[in-house]
Amino acid sequence: MNEIKVSPNGRVAFVSGANRGIGRAITIELLEKGAKKVYAGVRNLKSMDDLKPEYGARLVPVFLDLRDDKSIIKATKLTKDVDILINNAGVYESGGFCSDETLDSMAVNFEVNVWGLVKLTVSLIDRLKQREIAAIVNISSVLGLASMPIAGAYCASKAAVHSITQGLRGELFMTNILVMGVYPGPIDTEMTEDLEMEKDSPVNVAREIVQGLADGNEYVFPDVMSKQVGELYLTEPITVERQFAHFVSQVEEA
Ligand SMILES: NC(=O)c1ccc[n+]([C@@H]2O[C@H](COP(=O)([O-])OP(=O)(O)OC[C@H]3O[C@@H](n4cnc5c(N)ncnc54)[C@H](OP(=O)(O)O)[C@@H]3O)[C@@H](O)[C@H]2O)c1
Repeated sequence: MNEIKVSPNGRVAFVSGANRGIGRAITIELLEKGAKKVYAGVRNLKSMDDLKPEYGARLVPVFLDLRDDKSIIKATKLTKDVDILINNAGVYESGGFCSDETLDSMAVNFEVNVWGLVKLTVSLIDRLKQREIAAIVNISSVLGLASMPIAGAYCASKAAVHSITQGLRGELFMTNILVMGVYPGPIDTEMTEDLEMEKDSPVNVAREIVQGLADGNEYVFPDVMSKQVGELYLTEPITVERQFAHFVSQVEEA
């Protein structure tokens, strides 16, 4: 295990999907904890305007569309001094593997959640290696650890993020880079607005991630539900798989 602690104080971060939800909360938390600068990867540069009076030049919106290779290249050219990369941007396209929409759903989830994340990371990795210490934070999901039938395609994309995180951690072992995987449960953002269940707040998730960086944690289960799943996953992964697999039928029966 790398013993790298990456306090945000005085460091430069790049957060994808910074304009809303978990990404916005992480951006604010990093700035509150003393980050020198946060590049906010967004598709609408004006979407951070309301935070400018508070954070001024420390908050730098950068155009980033993970479905557009040119925008990824351009964004990474503008963010040469980054120490902490937060791969947060993501989409949730519902659907499993037994419908007419399966291939479309797979394509959308994978294009942003997997290919976008990999392209952005690969574009920045040499830069990160040159920093004194650095971090790559990938937002997976508890659904990346076990699949839920209504969302099989999304789960597969988040499982890929989990595997990519493990792969990066292995390759970057004994370097200057901390590789953190984050596995949230249901969080109250636009992504889950149609989901009727108890949800934790993006602010709590952001606090756990930023504290996790300072503590040098490789795995972060940032909310009430994910802490329970995380504990079970570490000892009995098959039980998590069975519970998630039957979650939909339990909801339908209720
Ligand atoms: N909410 C949850 O319950 C939950 C649980 C586990 C994991 N997660 C993960 O946490 C991350 C953040 O989710 P959230 O809940 O904050 O979702 P959200 O509120 O829907 O925000 C998603 C963010 O991703 C950005 N994004 C989407 N497609 C993009 C693209 N092609 N290029 C660049 N940015 C793009 C969005 O930008 P626009 O505003 O421009 O669309 C937005 O900033 C995601 O990776 C998600 O899978 C969420």
